[in-house]
Amino acid sequence: MVQQRLIAEDEVVAKPDLATVCSEPDAIAAFDAGYPSHLVGRSLLVHADCFDWLAAIPEHAISSIVTDPPYGLKEYEHSELQKRAVGRGGVWRIPPSFDGHERAPLPRFTALNGKERAILRAFFVQWARLAVRALRPGGHVIIASNAFISQLTFEALVEGGLEWRGELIRLVQTLRGGSRPKNAEDQFPGVCSMLRGGYEPWGILRAPLPAGMQVSECLRIYGTGGLRRDWHGKQALDVIMSERTPRSERAIADHPSLKPQSFLRQVVYLSLPLGEGIVADPFMGSGSTIAACEAVGYQGIGVERSADYYAIARRVVPQLARVPVRAKPQLQLPIDDDL
Ligand SMILES: C[S@@+](CC[C@H](N)C(=O)[O-])C[C@H]1O[C@@H](n2cnc3c(N)ncnc32)[C@H](O)[C@@H]1O
Repeated sequence: MVQQRLIAEDEVVAKPDLATVCSEPDAIAAFDAGYPSHLVGRSLLVHADCFDWLAAIPEHAISSIVTDPPYGLKEYEHSELQKRAVGRGGVWRIPPSFDGHERAPLPRFTALNGKERAILRAFFVQWARLAVRALRPGGHVIIASNAFISQLTFEALVEGGLEWRGELIRLVQTLRGGSRPKNAEDQFPGVCSMLRGGYEPWGILRAPLPAGMQVSECLRIYGTGGLRRDWHGKQALDVIMSERTPRSERAIADHPSLKPQSFLRQVVYLSLPLGEGIVADPFMGSGSTIAACEAVGYQGIGVERSADYYAIARRVVPQLARVPVRAKPQLQLPIDDDL
């Protein structure tokens, strides 16, 4: 039996009790921390900078975080979004059209120099510290990255106090380039400068359990510490066969980093081991994670800094939550019993 408590017994407090939040959907509004907010379904959308919001909410209020942060920090700066809108300069580039289809601009992550990489590192260290404070002990963070930046960002998250629990691989072809050595394409026709991207890495991290506490006890006290088995009761694989975000979803939510519901619903679902508590997405964008929460029957809190994307999220979360998703084939992997 899970003890429906928000914080450890030795902490003294008058903070909202998560049990109340779950049984009375409107009580989630208490998590706006004074920022403009809107209830959408059983979830809450907050218009704020997530660093401020994470620092302002009660400690240990959140049971999991599923999020897709700005990979390169710069791409969601106002000035970069303006350059994207006029299609000139900045980090947003149109990928080459190899199949006759015009592509939407993607951020060019190699544009980060050493100083910017240091800023990125500091950003994720600080963010992780705030996430540890906001999460229940044992609460999971499942966070998108990309093959270029993941080494840096995951290490920074661990430095900020999160515990490394591995990766979730979203299988999908990415358009990161590198098919030829630049300016020497003809000289080295048999060479590519990197392998074609076939996955998106999502870090799996966890707020540390209190010293000496086992997962079983963490589950009993905080309802966290483990991950939920899939809806067939199976231990989910850490590789998910995914897809490009379907056109039907992109038509609903105009955001350059929209993730597919078919993937997010699986990730959100497994993030709450007992299906109880609040899932937060501090970099909400157009609200696809919160829509996934709504679709699987969870309560979510999405935080977004941009007024434009916040307005989009308010409008589209209910629509995205209703889109039907096609079942993807289950991956059948051979077992290597040496590993
Ligand atoms: C990669 S996008 C997430 C897109 C989301 N996965 C979706 O499907 O719409 C990151 C979002 O984080 C927002 N953002 C960046 N810095 C932020 C901050 N400090 N606080 C809150 N939101 C922030 C950006 O405006 C952007 O919409």
